[in-house]
Order: sequence, then C-alpha cells, then structure tokens
Amino acid sequence: MTNQNFIDLSRIYEESEKVKVSLQGKKLDKMRSQALENPEQFWGEQAKNLIWFKQWDKVLDSNDHPFYKWFVGGALNASVNCLDRHIDSDLKNKAAIIWEAENKESRSFTYSQLYRSVNKFASALKSLGVKKGDRVTIYLPMVPELPIAMLACARIGAIHTVVFSGFSSQALSDRVNDSNSRVVITADGGFRRGKLVELKKVVDEAIPLSSSIEHVVVLKRALNNITMGPKDVWWHEIIEDARPYCEPEIIESTHPLYILYTSGTTGKPKGVVHSTGGYLTHLYATAKWVFDFTNKDIFFCTADIGWVTGHSYIVYAPLMHGATQIMYEGAPDYPKPDRYWDIVEKHGATILYTTPTALRMYIKFGNSIPNSFDLSSLRLLGTVGEPINPEVWMWYFRTIGKENCPIVDTWWQTETGGIMISACTGIEIVPMKPGSGTFSLPGIDAVVVDENGKPVTPDKKGYLVIRKPWPGMLMTLWRDDEKYQNTYWRKFDNIYFTGDYALYDTDGYLWLLGRSDDVLKIAGHRLGTMELESAFVSHRAIAEAAVTSRPDEKKGESIIAFLVLRTEFAAVSEQQLRNQLVNHIRETVGPIATPGEIYFVNKLPKTRSGKIMRRLLKSISSGSSTIGDVSTLEDGTSIEEVRQAYDDLHKAIG
Ligand code: WTA
Repeated sequence: MTNQNFIDLSRIYEESEKVKVSLQGKKLDKMRSQALENPEQFWGEQAKNLIWFKQWDKVLDSNDHPFYKWFVGGALNASVNCLDRHIDSDLKNKAAIIWEAENKESRSFTYSQLYRSVNKFASALKSLGVKKGDRVTIYLPMVPELPIAMLACARIGAIHTVVFSGFSSQALSDRVNDSNSRVVITADGGFRRGKLVELKKVVDEAIPLSSSIEHVVVLKRALNNITMGPKDVWWHEIIEDARPYCEPEIIESTHPLYILYTSGTTGKPKGVVHSTGGYLTHLYATAKWVFDFTNKDIFFCTADIGWVTGHSYIVYAPLMHGATQIMYEGAPDYPKPDRYWDIVEKHGATILYTTPTALRMYIKFGNSIPNSFDLSSLRLLGTVGEPINPEVWMWYFRTIGKENCPIVDTWWQTETGGIMISACTGIEIVPMKPGSGTFSLPGIDAVVVDENGKPVTPDKKGYLVIRKPWPGMLMTLWRDDEKYQNTYWRKFDNIYFTGDYALYDTDGYLWLLGRSDDVLKIAGHRLGTMELESAFVSHRAIAEAAVTSRPDEKKGESIIAFLVLRTEFAAVSEQQLRNQLVNHIRETVGPIATPGEIYFVNKLPKTRSGKIMRRLLKSISSGSSTIGDVSTLEDGTSIEEVRQAYDDLHKAIG
C-alpha cells in the first residue's frame, strides 16, 4: 500500500508566480533543517506574527521536563489576535463567519460584528462574576454563538472547555466536574437530520450532578416552552445591557487558553490543557504553511467545534489570518447527500478540510451528485482524523478537485494542538503520494522508532514519536501532571509518545498506520476501549466487557463488544438485550459510540493477572485466522490458555 507512484502537481502550478514548484522539495528541506538546528530562533520568528502586549523573555523553558513552557514572560490575548487586529483594517466589513444550517438558511458575521458580539458577551460573563482562570463549559451546537462564547472567555482569561453537543448528560457532568466549571453555556436545542436535539434538557440532567455550576446561560433558538431553573439565564437577556467594549485581559503566554477532554487508554477522558502563546503561534504558522491561508480564503472545515480540529482550524487559525470561515450545523447527507458540495458552491469555498469518513460516505452515492455542482472555487483539499485510503484520496483528487487541487493529508492530535505532519502548500509544492502524510512540518522532529526507542530503517513499521518540544504541545492534563508524564513521556525517555504506528518509505515519505494503543477512531471520532467498557458494565445486565474494533468500510473502524452477562440475565432475549445496550451506550456516552456488533460470551480472554488480552481481541475482530504474535503474552499465560480464549471468541462471532 505504501510507496505509491508520485502524483506530480507541477501542472497545477505551472502558471503560478507565487509558488515555485520544486520536485525535490529544496525550499521545504532547507526550512526543515534550519528549524531543527535552531528551534528556538525558528519558533521565535514565527511568534512575531502574533500581536503581543509584552514580548517574551525566553522562547522555550525546558528546565522542568516535560512541562515545557513557551514564550515565557510574554503576554497576549487570543481574542485580540483573532479580532482586534483586523478591526482597523479593510477586513473590518468582511465576513468572518458564514453559518449554514441544514435547512439551507444562512447567517454571516463580519469581523466587526463578531468583535462586537464577543465584546458584549465577554462583558456579560464578567457581570456573572466570571474571572480570569475560571473554567466555563460550553455545550452548544454548531452556531456562531459557539465561537463567540469561546472568544469571549479568551477575552477575559476564562478557560473554556467545549463539550461536543452530541455527548450525553453523564459525559457532560463528568467534564464539568473534572474542570470544576462555574458556568455552562448551552442552547435550547441544536438541529440534526431535521430534528431538534434538546440540549437544555441534557444540561438539566447534568446540573444536579455538578455542584460547581453557578449559572447556566441559555441561547434561545427554537423552543418556546423551556423551563428556566434558578441558575438559568437567557443569553439574549444578559447581553442586552452589556457593555459593547470589554477591555481584553493581559494573559501570560503560559496561561491555559482551554481544556479539551479526549479519550485515552484509561476509562476516564483526559483534560488536555493548551497554552495561549505557544498554541496560537503553532496555529498561525501551520495554517500558513499547510493551507497557504490568505485573507481572501473562504475556508470550509467540516469538523465540529466540539473536537480539536474545530477549535484550531475553525476558530483560532482562520480568524487570526482574517479568512472567512464556513460553519455548518447538520449532517453531511441530510436532507440529501450533497450538503458539502452545495455549501462549497453556494459560498464559493476555496479550501475544503474534511474527514476520510465523510468522503467514503459521499463516494457511496456516486459521482453524479458532486458533478452536478460547480466546485471550481476550490483551490486546495485537506483531510484529517484518520488514515485516508489511497482510493479515497484519488476520488477526492479527481472528482472533487478535478485534478486541479493538491490534497493535504494532515496528521495531528488533540494533544499536539495543531498540524504536525502534512504537505505544506504554503511553502513549496512537492509531489504527493495518495495515502501518505508526506513530511513532518518545519520544527517538528517526528521519528519512527522500535520498541527500544531506536529509529527504524525505511519501510519498517514502528512507533511515531516527537523528539523535540513544539509550541502547540499540551502543557499537561488538567489536574493530573502525573498522568501527563506517564501517558506521553514514559514509554520512551524524554520523547513524546504519540500512540500511533507509522513508517517512512524509501523516498522519505511518512505513512500513518493507525493507533498502537487502546484508542479507537470511529468515523474519525476518538474513543477509548476502557471508557466504552465502563459504559457497558454500568448497565445492570452486564458483569464484564471487553471492547475492540474491526476495520469498517464506512467508518474506518467500528466497535465490537464482547460481554459477559450477569447470571440473572442469561435467559433474557439476546436481541432485546442488544437493543437495550445500544440505547444504553448512546445515552451514557453518545450516539458516536453506537456499537457495531455485540457478542455475549461466557468469559473474557484474560491474562493470568486479569488483564484483557487486547491483541487477541484485535486479531479476532480483524478477521485474522491465526493468533499471530499474541502468543507472546507476558505474565506467564500459556499458549493453550490463549488458544482456548481465541476459540471461545471465534465461536461467539460465528
Ligand atoms: C489519528 C484529531 C492518520 C491518529 C486531529 C491520531 C490520523 C488521532 C490523521 C488523534 C491522519 C489524525 N492520518 N491518522 N491524517 N489525523 N489521525 O485527538 O491516530 O481526535 O493519534 O485529533 O487521530 O485524534 P484526535
């Protein structure tokens, strides 16, 4: 699958004055080696593109490894970098956000309108008593008020923690409690597939479980008969008399801009903490390098702001660059499987940034749908979130880009803050290989190593690690420094462990090969197997659970659960129980975690010390007919025991 033929893009750029095409990647190579030779000087230069209240004293403080601090002594404000910087320029009356609804209604905000809304909402938050350092949970659908709320928090130095609006009340209250938020911002509802999802109801269920919450701000959209409780205030009422200008707080570079919860290998989601100065520097630079952003661009990033892609490349990066950002609230295939193409045509998007899962879904509906739209405004295509199959890459290139747009396959993580591996169309156009992430970005020291931390030879699969700190890196996990150290810095001494497999081919191109740990990527969404297992055992019929995934044509991976029933439930109709369990998971985690297959078994494959044999599960679920390298199990579990467990599960799958 690797080492594909090159796709030579020189034809696309042959008349371009701006981008000098070099098939050898000389300019990029030079920039990459300069950055790695003197990273501090390199990143210091990049940081000068931001607006600082106070220049930093030191680019990088590495004294307290792995708690790296970027631009120490510097002070800035994220909302000033996204808004105030454009307000005295020609961009003032240009659209900052174009919002599109599932029913094709649209709304737009110019930079000056966005500036005013953010200022007013920031003043309103202040009058609720929110101060610098306080945590504010945002549980909103994909409406412009979501970035407004984030930027308002940033303006006053409150740390926002956005919770994906598809998460359940349990997931919401877990996050509110972990971050100890004082305020939740929500809406009466969000729209998906023509239906209203009643978000305020979810918040009402979460609030009794979350004692730190003092106020719930409710955005009114559609419902008239919302019951307002004692902590609830309407968004439109609190901004009515709010002051139209709110002085931005002076924020230290190392002050957290936000916490974003993500799934890991343990049961509890981890609160990834991002800084202000380092994070924004990383975003500004990567958006320029990868997408070649200019303020003429109309950028359509299809992610939900509830995930990191939305934080970084819907909100902060495009606004810092003065681009126009399209936000879409709704499903890609509702009411018809043409929404993305319709939006590209309607708003003249110049860049489309989406997921392989969305592309695979569109491929299924055939070429005639995208072919019936004028997609000629597009100049660049991007993907993120999961490996893209070379066939899907080619479809994207031909059918959507009409062979006129390069594709940037961008690899990164919630923890990395911004893109780490990708082609860099803003630096130099290099030949592309469908399915390869191309190279690491300048300043990013990505290496593939073996179990002992030694770099592997070309074409050998190994672990992807990052050897040098980078400005967008997480600062820590919220209130869990130890877990931060253990998760990312212990497997290999002093270097960042990504959890992904990768390889470099003989041309030096990087291929991302999926997770090496217990993290799943279901339709591009990140879920932990242990998190799902706890959700299963919280159902009264389930004694034990083991979760794995199977490759899936549409979703990339789909969830498979092996469950041991409590004896009193053994006689219950299996189909009935399956349906109940699917609903239970949808309610406790959210619809993104809907299991693909559920099997009831008598016992789970466990090692002698009681650990679930994860590799065995994986090899069974991916259809392997041998037990392969699972025979080398630690803690003395015998091959016979493994084989027995393997046979039991095979019987269950049938
Ligand atoms: C996977 C999403 C292959 C990877 C921005 C990573 C990818 C995890 C790619 C992080 C890509 C992301 N090719 N795999 N282009 N991009 N991944 O935190 O396994 O939701 O570790 O961040 O997604 O997922 P997260």
